[in-house]
Amino acid sequence: MHQRHPGLESLARQKKALCCLGTTRISADAWGVGGYSDAPMDPIRLSSTDRLLAVADHALRALTSTPQAARPKPAPSRPGTPLDDAERRRAGALMRVNHVGEVCAQALYSAQALATADPALRRQFERAAGEETDHLAWTAERLAELGARQSLLNPLWYAGAFGIGLLAARAGDATSLGFLIETERQVERHLEGHLDRLPVGDQESRAIVAQMKTDEATHAMAAEHAGGTRLAAPFRWAMRAAAKVMTTTAHYV
Ligand SMILES: [Fe+2]
Ligand SMILES: [Fe+2]
Repeated sequence: MHQRHPGLESLARQKKALCCLGTTRISADAWGVGGYSDAPMDPIRLSSTDRLLAVADHALRALTSTPQAARPKPAPSRPGTPLDDAERRRAGALMRVNHVGEVCAQALYSAQALATADPALRRQFERAAGEETDHLAWTAERLAELGARQSLLNPLWYAGAFGIGLLAARAGDATSLGFLIETERQVERHLEGHLDRLPVGDQESRAIVAQMKTDEATHAMAAEHAGGTRLAAPFRWAMRAAAKVMTTTAHYV
């Protein structure tokens, strides 16, 4: 009976893990663990180079392909009303800002999953990143429905967030998680503000923002439970200032 050589089998599986250019959703295997499950089976060991390639692949997919959500787009609890031109423009600008936030979330979680040496923590980052992919897909779809475009500066936002995520991760897992807690809390408050600013008739966007807000709170709590420490006030202020620059710019560009 024919038996495959274990080395060849491993190589084939690693190749499969890296061959994710045709898909949009991040493959957990590409990070070198078994999946989003709490109990990964038969983990794949990837080299540093493999992981860097997977990170580059993830960035390209986040920026250039149509993301695919695992969950259906949240449905409004009540029907909306037709939007006039001004309302449509306002909703488009706000959802563009939210889409940029999700581009940054992809970069942050990608950097932190890359940097941590703790497999359990990496799985947690990947789980959260999966939900962030849903957010990315929903906001992209809603932008298209509103006839609005994505930010022209998405590559810049991604690169900046990736660099910041990597710096936070270099400070150790507790700080990295603390950075995530602060980020998710700030995003949660920001989404709360958007629920006030979105046109009342735009129930479609409101349903998406409401679900995202719930998910971001869950991500913050998960990071707290995983041992994240509260960042010092100057860091939190700096993060707020950076977020302000991003949201103000993305509103228009
Ligand atoms: Fe998100
Ligand atoms: Fe989140």
